[in-house]
Amino acid sequence: MEGKVHVLDHPLLQHKLTILRNKDTGVKEFREIVSEIAMLECYEATRDLQLEDVEVETPITTGTFKALSGKKLAIVPILRAGLGMVDGILNLIPSAKVGHIGLYRDPETHLPVEYYCKMPPDIAERDVIVLDPMLATGGSAAAAVTFIKGYGCKSVKLMNIIAAPEGIAAVQKDHPDVDIYVAAVDQGLNDHAYIVPGLGDAGDRIFGTK
Ligand code: PRP
Ligand code: URA
Repeated sequence: MEGKVHVLDHPLLQHKLTILRNKDTGVKEFREIVSEIAMLECYEATRDLQLEDVEVETPITTGTFKALSGKKLAIVPILRAGLGMVDGILNLIPSAKVGHIGLYRDPETHLPVEYYCKMPPDIAERDVIVLDPMLATGGSAAAAVTFIKGYGCKSVKLMNIIAAPEGIAAVQKDHPDVDIYVAAVDQGLNDHAYIVPGLGDAGDRIFGTK
C-alpha cells in the first residue's frame, strides 16, 4: 500500500503559500512564512500522537485529563532549505530532537549528493519527520528517508510545502510506508527539474543567496 498524501488546504496555509510564490516577496517575509507554514502543517502531521490519562488538580477540583504519552519525536531538516521549517515545528514541540542531513542536487544530473549527516543517538526509537520545503523529482527526499531508515527508524513522515506529482510518485515508490504532508501539489517540473509554478529556489529565497 502507498503512503498517504495529506494535502493541507486550510485557508491560512493557502494564503501564506501564495505570498511565498510571489517573486517580489523579500527574504525576511519569506523566511517567516516558511516557518509559520511548517508550524501549521505540524498540527496535521502530529494528529496521531498518543495520549495518556493524567491526574491534575485544577483550582476547583481534581480530574483525569489527557497529556502526550511521551512518544519521542525527531525532526530532520534536509539542508539547506529544510532548516527554514525547524523553528516553526519547535514552537509546537520544543522537546523534539533535531537531526541534520546535508544533500544538494547536482545541477547537471539533478541527483542528490550527500555532504553531511548528524543524528540524535537514539534516533532509532523516535518517530521522525523529514523536512524540506520542495519535493521536486523526489530524489533528495527519497535518499534522506533511506538514510534515516538505515539507522533503524520505523516511523518516518515527510513534510514539504510544495510537491510535484513526480516527487510524490518517487517517494511512494521507494517508501510506500511514508506519509507525505504538503500545502500544495503543483503541475509538474520544468526542464531544470524546478517545480511549476512553484516558488523558485527555496534555499536561495530563505537565505538570500540569489
Ligand atoms: C532543493 C530542495 C530539496 C531539493 C528538491 O535543495 O530544498 O532539497 O532541491 O529537489 P528534488 O526533489 O529534485 O531532489 P537544493 O538541492 O537546491 O539544495 P539547497 O537546499 O542547499 O539550496
Ligand atoms: N528545489 C527548489 O528549491 N525548488 C524547486 O522548484 C525544485 C527544487
